[in-house]
Amino acid sequence: NKTSNQLLVIFGASGDLTARKLIPALYNLYEGGHFPENFAVLGASRSDMSDEEFRKRVVYESPFLKDKLKKKDDEFIKKFADMMFYSDLGDDYDSEYSKLNKRITSLNEEHGLDGNYSFYLSTPPSLFEPISKNLSDQGLTKGSGTDKGFRRIIVEKPFGYSLETAKELNAGLQKYFKEKQIYRIDHYLGKETVQNLMVTRFSNSIFEPLWNRNYIHHVEITNAETVGVEKRGGYYDKSGALRDMFQSHLLQIVSLIVMEPPISADADEIHNEKVKALKSIRRMTDTQTLFDHTMKGQYVASSIDGKRVKGYREEEGVDPDSKTETYAAIKFFVDNWRWKDVPFYVRTAKRMPTKVTEVVIHFKTPHHQVFKEQDINNKDNKLVIRIQPDEGILIKFGVKVPGQGFKVERANMDFYYSSLADKNIMDAYERLLLDAMQGDTTLYARADEVEAAWAFVDPILEYWANDKDVPTYGYPAGTWGPKNSDDLIEDSNGWRNPGEL
Ligand code: BG6
Repeated sequence: NKTSNQLLVIFGASGDLTARKLIPALYNLYEGGHFPENFAVLGASRSDMSDEEFRKRVVYESPFLKDKLKKKDDEFIKKFADMMFYSDLGDDYDSEYSKLNKRITSLNEEHGLDGNYSFYLSTPPSLFEPISKNLSDQGLTKGSGTDKGFRRIIVEKPFGYSLETAKELNAGLQKYFKEKQIYRIDHYLGKETVQNLMVTRFSNSIFEPLWNRNYIHHVEITNAETVGVEKRGGYYDKSGALRDMFQSHLLQIVSLIVMEPPISADADEIHNEKVKALKSIRRMTDTQTLFDHTMKGQYVASSIDGKRVKGYREEEGVDPDSKTETYAAIKFFVDNWRWKDVPFYVRTAKRMPTKVTEVVIHFKTPHHQVFKEQDINNKDNKLVIRIQPDEGILIKFGVKVPGQGFKVERANMDFYYSSLADKNIMDAYERLLLDAMQGDTTLYARADEVEAAWAFVDPILEYWANDKDVPTYGYPAGTWGPKNSDDLIEDSNGWRNPGEL
């Protein structure tokens, strides 16, 4: 794909995300030769900084680029740093936009950017609409007249706090931009293995015929992190695992497992199928189902490797009486022809024993048992899709143990992405930024997709927030969640805790 000359304007450029993720991703694209001939970045935020100071901060003195820069000569680094510019927005985002406009216009003329502008909003969602309005007032949201370039807007998560707020955000953006100009980031979609879910399903004829209620017993997804809430206690305590991880990243993964084959790899065709998939997840509305099919927990103080680890309620920025979940597990069904009655179990948590995200497709046991010696754990075939780390795919199947009789044991057939070591696996932000630079929305969430995900999550959030009988189970930091976490999945023999791949 061709990348046109362009300008990337980053709002919130003095923030952590810009230095930690965006500039390093841009640097990798530069190093990989993915930049167009003419390219520039204009950082904007309230902090007062010169171009030189911005370059120092995000390039020359950035701890996130240090190791990479060591390997390169000064000229190469300078060429990258010289593409960075900065414009401050004063104390008030509402003002100073004409100054910003002038800077954009002059950069465009001086650097031959062909009037192509993308605006990256690394800001709180409450600023999405005001910034869009200001850009629109300056005539910066549409390429028009002699100025024929493209205009794109890229926004970070969280995209909304509930269905209602997500709708408001969508409406706010859509007043000034067409849906095709809007890129909603979900960094999980930038992960190679998440994209590979579709390829595994739709480019092989051995999986898809089995990918339905006739052969699949249940689907299990685990997203575990070892970290706690780190320095984000203030944000996290108002959010919780369901909003922070499940509504976005995990339901995106679910949609790729559940969706029907799209008619082509065209972005809209894929989005259409994902929306259909998300809409077919059965909403939980009655209290009994919500009670039986959802579970929330919170890590409590514990000792990991001999060191005391704080409990969630002791974390900075967290209410000492907080009921916010750091563990969420949800069971649900998908009401359509393919998935009727197949349970899906999805859990996500902070402070677990290991960092791992994996999908396990549990196939049904053969309907007639010929080999009586096969033990219960070896009966079902499993397809394990490891999203991170040790990205790969594993099939578990039964083989005969050599010797007399028909003893069956489980064997693994595996593929690791690391065996494609000659291929440079792009980091999620790198991939997503390059797609946005090339105008490809496939790996971005569409408005109706985000709303469909919220529509499923909303009743659970409401139930958890308002029903006094909902327990918040404690689990010691560094364990696989509440003691009774297997209750939710007991019909399917409990959770499979990811061990070796
Ligand atoms: C973010 C969440 O979206 O994803 C964080 O806000 C979480 O709480 C992070 O830690 C996990 O991302 P990854 O790529 O490390 O799995």
